[in-house]
Amino acid sequence: MMSPLNRRHFIKNSALAAAALGLSARSYAQVSGANGDLRVGVVGFRSRGSEHLKELGKIKGVRIAALCDVDSDVVAKGLKSHPNAKGFTDIRKMLESGEVDAVSIASPNHQHALQGIWTLQAGKHLYVEKPLSHNIFEGQQLVAASKHFDKLIVQAGTQSRSGQGIRAAIKDVHAGVYGKVKVARAICYKRRKSIGPAKKHEIPANIDYDLWHGPADIQESIRGNQTDKVNETTSTGAVHYDWHWFWNYGGGDLCNQAIHEIDIARWFLNTHEVAPEVVSVGGRFGYSDCAETPNTFISIHNYAHAPLITEVRGLTANGKIDGPSDKFGKFKRSPEIGIIVECENATIVVPDYNSAQVYDKDGNQVKSYGKAIEQVDLSGGASGHHANWVECIRKGSAENIHAPVRECFLSTALVHSANISFRLGAKKSAGEINDAIKSSSGLAEAFSRMQDHLGVNGVKLDETKAILGAPLTVDTKTELFTGANAAAANADLVAKRTGRKGFEIPTTF
Ligand SMILES: NC(=O)c1ccc[n+]([C@@H]2O[C@H](COP(=O)([O-])OP(=O)(O)OC[C@H]3O[C@@H](n4cnc5c(N)ncnc54)[C@H](O)[C@@H]3O)[C@@H](O)[C@H]2O)c1
Repeated sequence: MMSPLNRRHFIKNSALAAAALGLSARSYAQVSGANGDLRVGVVGFRSRGSEHLKELGKIKGVRIAALCDVDSDVVAKGLKSHPNAKGFTDIRKMLESGEVDAVSIASPNHQHALQGIWTLQAGKHLYVEKPLSHNIFEGQQLVAASKHFDKLIVQAGTQSRSGQGIRAAIKDVHAGVYGKVKVARAICYKRRKSIGPAKKHEIPANIDYDLWHGPADIQESIRGNQTDKVNETTSTGAVHYDWHWFWNYGGGDLCNQAIHEIDIARWFLNTHEVAPEVVSVGGRFGYSDCAETPNTFISIHNYAHAPLITEVRGLTANGKIDGPSDKFGKFKRSPEIGIIVECENATIVVPDYNSAQVYDKDGNQVKSYGKAIEQVDLSGGASGHHANWVECIRKGSAENIHAPVRECFLSTALVHSANISFRLGAKKSAGEINDAIKSSSGLAEAFSRMQDHLGVNGVKLDETKAILGAPLTVDTKTELFTGANAAAANADLVAKRTGRKGFEIPTTF
């Protein structure tokens, strides 16, 4: 592993090398690869990163030059399908190697900001998965780094921002075609099973557990049963995937699936600030396991002009906790996962990552934008999110980048602030929660349906109490919490983590 001293040397040298050569983003594209190929390194590719490989593989003139993963079994598997790529387990070695011009990151959430900043400091273009960071502070540093290295092209992994139908619907809503937006709803009804009781795992030799943690505090792997196996043939010590359900690494489904819907909902609201107020309600219901994050959650982000209401459900609609049915109840016209935007004169529904439909006040569909995502031909890579990133790199301009880093930061700050409200909350009876939120009709209505949904699953909120989150206010300029709960909300390890020794989050570049 690289020592802190070597790490500083690496960062300084990479940044100096870029500066000394006077390379602009355009010249990076020009000097890249022997045949003018853009040489990309993919980081963390067991699951989501394998989609990055597929998308990048469709784009002409892009070469997968390096594969990096802290699990050497994952690297070995990747090298079989990409025999000309170089394999790495430490991203810093890959960045130093001179093998890549651009880096596409799909490692776990707690790695994004630090690896993103290192990538920019090394003078490489960056594609980084959502959420932008594990906490608000880290996200702010990555945004600052991307401003500092402004010739490098950064794309955030909120790929719906490249959805053509969604983009067209957004344009019309922003132009006021359907009247003012009254409320935007992010719906995430996605089955999440129990991960079982805590169980201590031996970490297999193929995983570098120190690097896997990076800036996060090192903890034992106690994650019950691994629920997402991705054809693994050997034990992985339950290191992968279920980290999503532990605060040290993930942020529950809010930071996993729902951030996509929240990002689109906020995009419809046409706001480019964090929300000034947030409160949430939720809990982990229906089973008892070792995970920490809620599986049932509602929140309201109160923007001055219209609220953003989020609903997450991990249990089924038919109450069969471990039964075969993953069917969920539908709210209004929403699919299980989607966005509903209620405007003065129409309702816009986004049912997938590409299309949108418009309904009039009587519920008749009056317009549709784009094809359903399954029908979109992405075989040439031309309309994909990675393709948009590569196109901007080739043009040497971020003007047309579809998911700017700052936008992903704002949506990331929304999910973190809702989670912080939850984490600072207290268990209350349904009556107490109703009383506390009755002035917020949108949240009260979502809570009433949440109780019905839990009831079907045999959960009665007067017996099993839910957590009523602390109401939080945010200064939209400083992006810090203010008011009664400010000290706890801004605290280290809640909104901020500066990074373990050797993996400190840079604040100057
Ligand atoms: N945009 C999308 O639609 C979408 C979909 C799924 C996941 N994601 C995001 O992708 C990321 C990965 O999710 P996942 O479900 O694939 O997780 P995962 O745990 O299944 O896979 C993560 C991979 O990263 C590797 N890794 C961990 N630390 C690393 C490090 N320091 N350097 C290099 N590799 C490292 C792991 O060994 C593993 O192979 C998450 O941030 C998630 O939010 C995005």
